[in-house]
Amino acid sequence: MSGHFESHFPESGSVDYADQSTNIDETTIDELRELAGRYPQPRSALLPMLHLVQSVDGRISPRGIEACADVLGITTAQVSGVATFYTMYKRRPAGKQHVGVCTTALCAVMGGDILLERAKKRLGIDEGQTTPDGQISLERLECNAACDYAPVMMVNWEFFDNMTPQKADELLDKLLADEEVVSSRGAVITTWKEAERVLAGFPDGRADEGPSAGPASLAGVEIAREKNWKAPAADAKPAAPEQEAAQ
Ligand code: FES
Repeated sequence: MSGHFESHFPESGSVDYADQSTNIDETTIDELRELAGRYPQPRSALLPMLHLVQSVDGRISPRGIEACADVLGITTAQVSGVATFYTMYKRRPAGKQHVGVCTTALCAVMGGDILLERAKKRLGIDEGQTTPDGQISLERLECNAACDYAPVMMVNWEFFDNMTPQKADELLDKLLADEEVVSSRGAVITTWKEAERVLAGFPDGRADEGPSAGPASLAGVEIAREKNWKAPAADAKPAAPEQEAAQ
């Protein structure tokens, strides 16, 4: 596939074409083909294919873009257009562990901004950067749909609930020291690259490790059970406003 899209705004988040390093080999190409074969329209596989590229190269590499374009028969500009649209695709190498701090409304109210500032200081990097030893990258996250556990942090997309500055320090220290860390509602943390391989569609058999829904998420269900509330049947007609008011 000839030519690639070169941004006129290199600092705006385009793929780094100065770094041509890659670990993509024939096995990766076979796996990219396998992913493309899972969809009626092969092009639908592009998102998981990009996750696979990240699992191998630790970022969206120029070679990864070419490989996806070749397998799908589309242009590299089309691939990089997708890769640079979504924030889960990294244009620079992510850390061995990728840490996110949610600072959207509820987490912000509960201290998310303080956690992010503290993490920046602790790691000596800004958001969007990786520690010089490559151990941790840091990202400001939008709402993770975990507001009932605000403020939340994430490591490799696994939740760390009800965080405090002290808990955040402990988490970062353990990650920096390569000590075992377990998500509040998920699995033992492996590495960002391993998590990316799972997101690509190659399960590691650990999806059911740890609890899934916690008490805060189930509070509504518990109240409904106590009060014997039931959801209306799927084909039930909506109640008239006067009926609703009478209930
Ligand atoms: S605002 Fe942070 S998870 Fe929703």
